[in-house]
Amino acid sequence: MPTSSAEATRRPPRMEIAGLAAGYGGDPIVAEIDITVGAGEVVAVIGANGAGKSTLLKAITGALVPISGRVTVEGREITRLPAHRLARLGIGYVPQTRDVFDTMTVVENLEMGGYLLSAPERAARVTEVMNIFPQLNQMRGRRALKLSGGERKMVALARVLMLRPKVLVLDEPTAGLSPELSRAVLRQQVRTLADRGTAILLVEQKAFEALEVSDWAYVLVGGRVVIDGPGSVVARRPDIREVFLGGTAQS
Ligand SMILES: Nc1ncnc2c1ncn2[C@@H]1O[C@H](COP(=O)(O)OP(=O)(O)O)[C@@H](O)[C@H]1O
Ligand SMILES: [Mg+2]
Repeated sequence: MPTSSAEATRRPPRMEIAGLAAGYGGDPIVAEIDITVGAGEVVAVIGANGAGKSTLLKAITGALVPISGRVTVEGREITRLPAHRLARLGIGYVPQTRDVFDTMTVVENLEMGGYLLSAPERAARVTEVMNIFPQLNQMRGRRALKLSGGERKMVALARVLMLRPKVLVLDEPTAGLSPELSRAVLRQQVRTLADRGTAILLVEQKAFEALEVSDWAYVLVGGRVVIDGPGSVVARRPDIREVFLGGTAQS
């Protein structure tokens, strides 16, 4: 497929990442990263364990200071801003681990997510978020540590939705879930939120499940993007498994 016609189907970018490089003091772990995410798009970054996916997201969300490059949202530079500033600017980040407060109930987790809102706004937003994911209602009084993996991921996502993010950055929302449950999370939660207009940057090791719901995908190997294209096109590439095995061998 010619890149030009595929490019033409993309939405105008809401978040742009240009020339991003990041690491932990030694050689960069990720470098030369150019990614765009449009409103209503699910954009996947797929790669083997150790490819640098979490490092990339930490550099985008201010958890790690990038070595170089820029991140902009609706034209405004957000590079190096601390997490609370990003939350105010409409960027929601669900990290790979420590994504909910274990000893708090589902409702309390949502209330924490709405910490920037006034008390009446917060209560109203809890109701709205419960309407987005109605299953949350049945578990509203349960402590997060009593939830299953899938339920927990739903709470993590719902918590970030409290501030009505324009951009959602998700680090392996299907980690630890069965392939079936992974598909359900990606279709019923991630895809649904994008279809409501959110721009979603999704990092996943479960490549084929992620590609099924993605408008565009970037394949990360050894901290560099080696392939990008529409999710359906990337999924059909005959070399995609090889690329992944290459990534595993390097890590
Ligand atoms: N806090 C850290 N300090 C030093 N190196 C790290 C740290 N976190 C991750 N790394 C290294 O960065 C590389 C990429 O890790 P990571 O971004 O977690 O990959 P992924 O999320 O794709 O599995 C790995 O080689 C890992 O060992
Ligand atoms: Mg990771």
